[in-house]
Amino acid sequence: MFLASVFRSAVSQTARQVRNLHQSAARAAAGGIFVHRDTAENNPETPFEFTAENLKRIDAIISMYPEGHKQAATIPVLDLAQRQHGWLPISAMNKVAEVLQIPPMRVYEVATFYTMFLRQPVGKFHIQICTTTPCMLCNSDSILEAIQNKLGIKVGGMTADKMFSLIEVECLGACVNAPMVQINDNYYEDLSPKDIEQIIDELKAGKVPPGPR
Ligand code: FES
Repeated sequence: MFLASVFRSAVSQTARQVRNLHQSAARAAAGGIFVHRDTAENNPETPFEFTAENLKRIDAIISMYPEGHKQAATIPVLDLAQRQHGWLPISAMNKVAEVLQIPPMRVYEVATFYTMFLRQPVGKFHIQICTTTPCMLCNSDSILEAIQNKLGIKVGGMTADKMFSLIEVECLGACVNAPMVQINDNYYEDLSPKDIEQIIDELKAGKVPPGPR
């Protein structure tokens, strides 16, 4: 009985998975994930300089790696650039390459691989919903639908007031508490559609909602 129900669930989830796989490439492209095209706000001339404080942090980060291996600091230095600017214009990536003394392409390769690196402006609250298999089997589709309906945006979109943006990501390492979303640096796990609606309402009201439900 139990096995039959698991099988039925898997078959129905497979149908959803086809939907996800079919649409993910288009969504990613819409979100500007695959390629860079110069725009007025994102081009090699976009102003970006590390602050004096962050330059000191970069020295400290580089000192943790063996001599001659500055490239190993690419991820933490990109993260620092993103936290300073709010997202990563190509000029910030070029600056990261400059301070690490590596070819810009080495930085682009990293920044385009990880969804944690934001290569276009995002909302004040950036929602990343995981739809990988464990979350999908726990009905992450219902959470995605609730977010889209509540905010009136689709994956890759941002609300008109720039408060919320939404992307779909692969596993965020919290599968045991699926389904889940990450909003800025916080994880929200064990979600129901009602939970995520409440979380959004609290964020709108200027509160910091508690994490796992
Ligand atoms: S599959 Fe969603 S957190 Fe791992």
